[in-house]
Amino acid sequence: MFELLDGKTLSIQIKNEIATEVRNLMADGYRTPHLAAVIVGNDGASQTYVANKEKSSHEVGFTSSVYRYPESTSEKDLLEAIEFLNNDPEIDGFIVQLPLPKHINEQHIIDAISPDKDVDGFTAINVGRMVLGEDAFVPATPMGICTLLKRYGIETCGKHCVVIGRSNIVGTPVANLLSRKGFDCTVTLCHSRTKNLAELTRSADILIVAIGKPEFVTAEMVKEGAVVIDVGIHRIPDESRKSGYRIIGDVKHDEVDKLCSWVTPVPGGVGPLTIISLLENTMKAYKKNLNIK
Ligand code: GUN
Repeated sequence: MFELLDGKTLSIQIKNEIATEVRNLMADGYRTPHLAAVIVGNDGASQTYVANKEKSSHEVGFTSSVYRYPESTSEKDLLEAIEFLNNDPEIDGFIVQLPLPKHINEQHIIDAISPDKDVDGFTAINVGRMVLGEDAFVPATPMGICTLLKRYGIETCGKHCVVIGRSNIVGTPVANLLSRKGFDCTVTLCHSRTKNLAELTRSADILIVAIGKPEFVTAEMVKEGAVVIDVGIHRIPDESRKSGYRIIGDVKHDEVDKLCSWVTPVPGGVGPLTIISLLENTMKAYKKNLNIK
């Protein structure tokens, strides 16, 4: 029988912990932590992400502000907006929601974010610090996966962890984090050019799927007793639902779950922990900013 890595319940528990810490700091006379978000254009998924981040920020007692710019905003104007946020002492951390419109070079924008306010952990400085094992802002999704494994007490030492997907946001950093001291996994990072993928995934004690393809991982690819972490989020039309859609992941859960020891549901697995990690990073930026131990 498999057990669920219930990200939703865990995220409520961690939100309560953060909210208590914020209340105690307020009682000691400190100002509230402040997370800002920059969003350019009208991408539907991005609007939803930013709205969720704003809601969660308020739930833990943070100040949250959203800077909205039209699709036609120039790279130069956006760089100026970032400079403004870098220099505002009341803003502890901020994110620039991706993707950006095609005429804006994302790397130029990310490189302009102050590493001390880069709560997404996307700047070269934070990526470098993370890889060196120094104190860094770690990207939210890999950090959320680590939190799930830790808080559920999943044994990772010496385990074979197979990651499918090599993105800068998820696959590459999670492979790095889980190979390090503390997690001590032996990690195989697979991608679109990997040969014998199913053979590799079948040898995984921990399988992390971040490939961005709906129901890509099937039962033949999973070893009995594996821990399966599904990072995928896809909306597919479903007329039986009031919303007209349902959410599925990168794993075919109806056939894979019964093979697992632990598995993340979709929705309600990794997703809620991603937002928690952003709140934790903001708390860390805030404490550094105000010199709170
Ligand atoms: N777009 C999709 N995920 C993310 C994220 O974690 N951060 C930002 N800034 N943009 C995203």
